[in-house]
Amino acid sequence: MQENKAIEVSGLTKKFGALTAVDNVSFDVSEGEFFGFLGPNGAGKTTLIRILTTLLKPTSGGAVVACCDVAKFPERVRREIGVVPQAMTSDLDLTGYENMDIYGRFYGMPSRERKERIAYLLELVGLTQRANDLVAAYSGGMRRRLEIARGLVHRPKLLFLDEPTIGLDPQSRQNIWGFLKKLMEGDRMTIFLTTHYMEEAEELCRRIAIIDSGKIVVIGSPDELKSRIPGNDSIVLTVDNIPQDIIARIDKLSFVHKSSVEENKIRVFVESGANNLPGLIDEARLSGAKILSASIHEQSLEDVFIHYTGKSIREEEVKKVSFLVGAGIPRKWGR
Ligand SMILES: Nc1ncnc2c1ncn2[C@@H]1O[C@H](COP(=O)(O)OP(=O)(O)O)[C@@H](O)[C@H]1O
Ligand SMILES: [Mg+2]
Repeated sequence: MQENKAIEVSGLTKKFGALTAVDNVSFDVSEGEFFGFLGPNGAGKTTLIRILTTLLKPTSGGAVVACCDVAKFPERVRREIGVVPQAMTSDLDLTGYENMDIYGRFYGMPSRERKERIAYLLELVGLTQRANDLVAAYSGGMRRRLEIARGLVHRPKLLFLDEPTIGLDPQSRQNIWGFLKKLMEGDRMTIFLTTHYMEEAEELCRRIAIIDSGKIVVIGSPDELKSRIPGNDSIVLTVDNIPQDIIARIDKLSFVHKSSVEENKIRVFVESGANNLPGLIDEARLSGAKILSASIHEQSLEDVFIHYTGKSIREEEVKKVSFLVGAGIPRKWGR
């Protein structure tokens, strides 16, 4: 069956002076698809979303969104899309209802349709009881939910979400995931999301593009991406020193597919974590490493990112955590 395309991007590039923020990016998103861009801070996700939502002109290349070329017909594109930017943009001095109503008016929706649509959306995001409270009294999670609902008032075909759960607590994040899924089932929307949380990409997206330094590294479904990297499990050894030849020695072990070092962690891709852990620990000890902790986990999108880029998506978070807890306390890996 031929699927209609909601987004078609070809050779898209955006430069800021000498910096190439988006570097020759090409991909398609089908109608009704939940598509994600996963990448670390500074990868170019917001720049890309700003181009696709007509807020920024590309340096070269082009994109068709919903109906039209974004550079040639920005107004037509804007009518078809909903946008939830990375920064919170709801008005603190208005109630939740008023924030949504302004949007509906802006899009010229008749009063009755506006009322019904806003009531439906407030219910969907669990804010019916708080609709008449000032947004200033909302928590971060409630504000985010309101802003997603607001992006849907004019019944867009396509919704763009730039890091929708950034900085939220796990419960608010789960809550947002829940109604985004409901939205996909009910309204058959196309959703384009960016995130640096691999769990979020894995939970929500049918297909994912992994982006790093402005370039698409790989595109596929979460399962496809995981099946492209060697082994089934990762073992992470946290050590207090990294002996010089340790990687060379570990790579020689017959059960090891690949290994890498980041800070004081050695990550090893193997077939079976449980079977291979003892042999790995023996080899690490023989090479002179003092092991502080070891953990096994099923391969995740984090491993896919490391496989293709050689670094962790959570680099900055890892640094922050080790700064907070002091050296030597291992960070938990796994899902
Ligand atoms: N308006 C701008 N002027 C100059 N540099 C920018 C501008 N916007 C973004 N950048 C740079 O482009 C790169 C990508 O940024 P961004 O798209 O915000 O990444 P992400 O959203 O993935 O964190 C970063 O290096 C950022 O500093
Ligand atoms: Mg961003």
